[in-house]
Amino acid sequence: MAHDKKIIVGNWKMNLDMHEASLYLHKLSQIVKVHRDVEVILAPTTLSLQSLSLQVNLRQFKLAAQNFYWRDRGYFTGEVSATQLRGIVQYGLVGHSERRHIFNESDKDIRNKVAAAIRNGIRPILCIGETAWEKSSGETFDVLHDQLIGALANITSQELDQVIVAYEPVWSIGNGQSASPSDVTSAVKAIRKQIEHLYGAKAAEAIQVLYGGSVTPDSAADYLALPGVDGLLVGAASLDAYIFSEIIKKAHKGSEVAKED
Ligand code: 13P
Repeated sequence: MAHDKKIIVGNWKMNLDMHEASLYLHKLSQIVKVHRDVEVILAPTTLSLQSLSLQVNLRQFKLAAQNFYWRDRGYFTGEVSATQLRGIVQYGLVGHSERRHIFNESDKDIRNKVAAAIRNGIRPILCIGETAWEKSSGETFDVLHDQLIGALANITSQELDQVIVAYEPVWSIGNGQSASPSDVTSAVKAIRKQIEHLYGAKAAEAIQVLYGGSVTPDSAADYLALPGVDGLLVGAASLDAYIFSEIIKKAHKGSEVAKED
């Protein structure tokens, strides 16, 4: 099913300090109008979330946490919980490959984080994807299958409504090696098939699936036109407000609403 609303997420990773983040938001809000057909989500570092939450116009952009811990509170030095992010963010990235591979997050951690996000009214954007080695060994679909099963084990059909899945092949992240349209189409199809197997055909149609990996303003429209792709998760090309706005424009088809000050 083609969703009416495209989702464009900018994952800034560990870039932009608080001052730069605030200037970015100011600049982006000047360039981008409110579009009813595009949900624009910004994922700054945790440090900037609170101040941006006071600055952002939620009719224009939403905020996502890049990471959080799955316990709600307690003796967990250095962590921030989904409970503490309630009311500050609307979305949270879960299972990004940098968290899986650099910070050794396990399927269990990811499963607990998906549940913690939902428990706290935050929509999880569950990132899954195979490494270059797994791709060359022909294991892409097995990896997607295992990562989905692992992350969604405790999630009911009703809760699944809150989940967004992002297909991010690890080999395409941060290196300009974007996946081919046929790679993305077949991966997204496999994801929906697995969701159908777990939750039924309706859920498989309804779930929103994004692509991420070296997306640029030049490639955005082609990915957005692929069957089953509901949006994009953008890293490097989201770091410049003007370049990111060019990607947002590609997702916007009509229904522009004058910006309210
Ligand atoms: P790049 O767009 O820089 O490849 O990063 C993708 C990504 O990891 C977004 O979460």
